[in-house]
Amino acid sequence: MKGIVLAGGTGSRLHPATLAVNKQLVPVYDKPMIYYPVSVLMQAGIDEILIISTPDDLYNYVSLFGNGSGFGLTMSYAVQPYPEGLAQAFIIGRDFVGEDSVALVLGDNIFFGAGLHDMLARTRSRPSGATIFAYAVDDPERYGVVTLDATGRPVHLAEKPALPQSRWAVTGLYFYDNRVLDIAAGIKPSARGELEITDINEAYLRAGDLHVECMSRGYTWLDMGTHDSLLEAGEFVRTIQKRQGQLVAGLEEIAFQQGFISLAELSERGAALGKTDYGRKLLAIAAEQA
Ligand code: TTP
Repeated sequence: MKGIVLAGGTGSRLHPATLAVNKQLVPVYDKPMIYYPVSVLMQAGIDEILIISTPDDLYNYVSLFGNGSGFGLTMSYAVQPYPEGLAQAFIIGRDFVGEDSVALVLGDNIFFGAGLHDMLARTRSRPSGATIFAYAVDDPERYGVVTLDATGRPVHLAEKPALPQSRWAVTGLYFYDNRVLDIAAGIKPSARGELEITDINEAYLRAGDLHVECMSRGYTWLDMGTHDSLLEAGEFVRTIQKRQGQLVAGLEEIAFQQGFISLAELSERGAALGKTDYGRKLLAIAAEQA
């Protein structure tokens, strides 16, 4: 399975902070925002990742991750000339995905929860179809909204509905089989001029092949698109890391757990970041394993 991080966009709700810097490079407590979505793909066991960003910003991601080897990853990069919608990821990423299945994560989403690893493993084990992840919110009209029947199966999808039928927002993480490439190639821009991910999910829903994983109690999902939500996310990460003594989106730690890097590489990365709590935590994890 391949992974795509969509890290373009305009970030206009974060202006002026993002006038000169791409949103997904902004620090969220101690690391760049994009670490959080990348960590989700890695926790799903994905080590081939495509980062899509704007023509002006893509080189910054190359500086950050290089070829990915520091994290045991193979990183590829592609430009999205204009923010023409989430579904465009599968048009831009068509050659990268090739014959494989693919997970897409939005560059400004944080997912956290003890059950996440198992949820991702269950999702990956589905041989076909699509899986979306739903989170109950108080303001569903701001999101894609999925309605479920009594058995938890999806029966209806709507993009930013004025009168939502449920509280289940569709989060920025999507798993698809290879059919997504052709589905994305066939959809038309919506009234707001974007290729909508909801149209892809609709196609799977109509085919009876859409699965929904509900992130209920015990999960945290935050998008970091506004000044307040960005600060809240930073506070959340700081609280977890300080109080629970664990890293949120410690990419080298996850790489080590997944077998993407060796113990020696984990220690090296920890030492290189030794002036920070992040680096010291990596060193402590390495010491526990030695
Ligand atoms: P949005 O929050 O919808 O858009 P944005 O990031 O441009 O922000 P704003 O509304 O403040 O102008 O995008 C969600 C995520 O998807 C975000 O991480 C950026 C990314 N994105 C792209 O990379 N390309 C796109 O075409 C779109 C629509 C979003």
